[in-house]
Formats: sequence, C-alpha cells, structure tokens
Amino acid sequence: MKKSIELDWANLGFNYIKTDYRYISYWGKGEWDGGTLTEDNTVHISEGSTALHYGQTVFEGMKAYRAKDGSINLFRPEENAKRMQRSCRRLLMPVILTDVFVEAIKKVVKANEEYIPPYGTGGSLYIRPYMIGIGDNIGVKPAEGYLFSIFCMPVGAYFKEGLVPTNFLVSEYDRAAGNGTGAAKVGGNYGGSLLPGSLARERNFSDAIYLDPITHTKIEEVGAANFFGITKDNQFITPLSPSILPSITKYSLLYLAEKRLGLEAREEDVFVNQLDRFTEAGACGTAAVITPIGGIQYKDDFHTFYSETETGPIIKKLYNELTGIQYGDVIAPEGWIIKV
Ligand code: PLP
Ligand code: COI
Repeated sequence: MKKSIELDWANLGFNYIKTDYRYISYWGKGEWDGGTLTEDNTVHISEGSTALHYGQTVFEGMKAYRAKDGSINLFRPEENAKRMQRSCRRLLMPVILTDVFVEAIKKVVKANEEYIPPYGTGGSLYIRPYMIGIGDNIGVKPAEGYLFSIFCMPVGAYFKEGLVPTNFLVSEYDRAAGNGTGAAKVGGNYGGSLLPGSLARERNFSDAIYLDPITHTKIEEVGAANFFGITKDNQFITPLSPSILPSITKYSLLYLAEKRLGLEAREEDVFVNQLDRFTEAGACGTAAVITPIGGIQYKDDFHTFYSETETGPIIKKLYNELTGIQYGDVIAPEGWIIKV
C-alpha cells in the first residue's frame, strides 16, 4: 500500500522538499556503473573534487505532470538529455546517453509517484538531474571521477502564482561571457547571477534581465528563463544569441506559436531600446512556465507591456496550449509527451 502525502498542493512555491528516492550513478575508469536508487539525500565527495573548486558541475531542470486520467507525463525529456550532453562536453565531462537518462528519470518519478501534485492543482514534480566532477584533485584539470544524480520535488510557481504579470530590472552585470558558457547549463552561470538577482529583488523586481555581453544593447535572459515578445502585427519574437541557454520551453513556444496560433515565429535581436514594438512580453522556462512580464526597468525608464496586472490574450492562448499539452488535455506534437 502506497503512503499518501499531505501537502498544500495548490500553494507549493518553488522550494526544496526531500522526497523518498533519488538516482545515483558513478563514473570511473572510463565507464558508468549501473546506477541505483537511494534514500540518502546527501553526497559524500573528496575535498579535492573539481565541482567544489573549479565549477565542474552541470544540471538540468524538467517536470513530470499528473494527467486527468491519473497517468504521468514527461515533457520532452530527450531534449534535456541532449542539452545535458552538450553542457558536459563544454566542461569535459562524460555524457549520459539519452536512453539511460530518460530511463533513470522514469525510475525516480515512479519511485516518488505520491509526491506528484494532483491534476488540477497547478503543481508538478520538478526533476533535477545533475553531474559533478569528484575525486582527489588539486590542479585545474578535468576530474577523473563523476557523480550523476537525479532528485525531484513537488513545486508550484517559480515567480508568481498563476498567470500573473511581474516586473523585471535590466542588470548592469553580465550573466555570461560572449564566447563563454552561457549556452551550457553549468553551475557557474548561476553563481554569478546571485548578486544581480538579489539587487533586483531588493528593488521589488522579480529578477534581473541580462543584456548581451558584447554590446549591452540586446535582451538575452530573464533570470533563469528566456524572453519572448509578441509584436503589434502578431509575430512571436525571441532573442537569438550564442550566450543564451537554449530553452526547451522557448523552442516549444516557437513551434506552437506558428503551428497552433498561426503567428509568425522567429529568433532575432531584441533591442532593449525598442521594446515598444511588443504588445505583450513574457519569460519562459521549465520553472517559470510562461510568466507574463508586466514591465521592464531599464536605467531610468520603466516600460510596460500589456498591463502590470492583466495577462494579454496571446500569452493566455500560448499558456493554455503549452500547459494543456503538458498535463495531457491538449494533443501534443509527435514525441513531446513520454509516459512514465
Ligand atoms: N534560461 C536559463 C538561464 C535557465 O536556467 C533556464 C532553465 O532551465 C531557461 C532559460 C529555460 O530553459 P527550459 O525551458 O529548457 O527550462
Ligand atoms: C529550470 O527552469 O529548470 C531552471 O533550471 C531554473 C532554475 C535554475 C530554478
């Protein structure tokens, strides 16, 4: 008999909750071991581990959703596997094959099934795969051993509950270097974002917006989410840059905007001094889902989009389409939903 978990499912926020099982696998002498589930939520590693000193850490973020019929949906997990492989190559780490990655995700979700928020609560099970360099080391060089793990927890909204607009502050700091690690999901990118994020929140903004590191004229990222805008003539525009994290949600929205909403959808430069071309704007990502952007503070100017309190009609449609697919209420494009 499965135990039942009592949580305030509709008001979870985005917080660590220890669930029962996590997957753990070790790499050494050129290969991964078989991997196993464990109840231990701590890791024991050498003080010399490259992850601790030289940032040899990569991670992913994805979700499992409880559908109306009780089944469990994963949203495009193979894309997370492929992005993790790219991040690993950037930091000279061994890769996890896509099949192994997806099977391990399924195992963790199944083992923690009772933590998946019920259908209709707006919650989901956030899944965090990560890999770190471990072992005795001191020189700046790749580790000889690696740990790959996947844990999960029930979550609700990352920014504000529901489809509620929120404001962001354009930071003077860069998130990533022009030819750096911005396109990889590596720990260092996030360590560097803590100060700008905190400065934005001190001024009552939800997070920092980062400009391109070369010219500081174009929008790149909205905290840990990608930016998109809807133009007056119904185009879906999202920035194109080698230092942006290629968001799986963003690529899904590019597709849905075009194929399901009939918008013209493309990636191109988004100049921060030309925001009045957009009638609506949003942040998108696994954690952020779609968060409407009420306004953006850039130096002394505060630019509002559709409204600081109401969500625009196109963003509402995109949100319903995306979340409808994730929860299984709307027919998904081929291969987007994998059942656990
Ligand atoms: N941008 C950054 C910096 C992120 O950390 C994330 C989160 O993964 C995203 C964008 C959104 O990516 P995805 O839609 O794949 O979750
Ligand atoms: C995600 O959306 O999965 C992220 O990784 C955001 C996060 C760093 C909380």
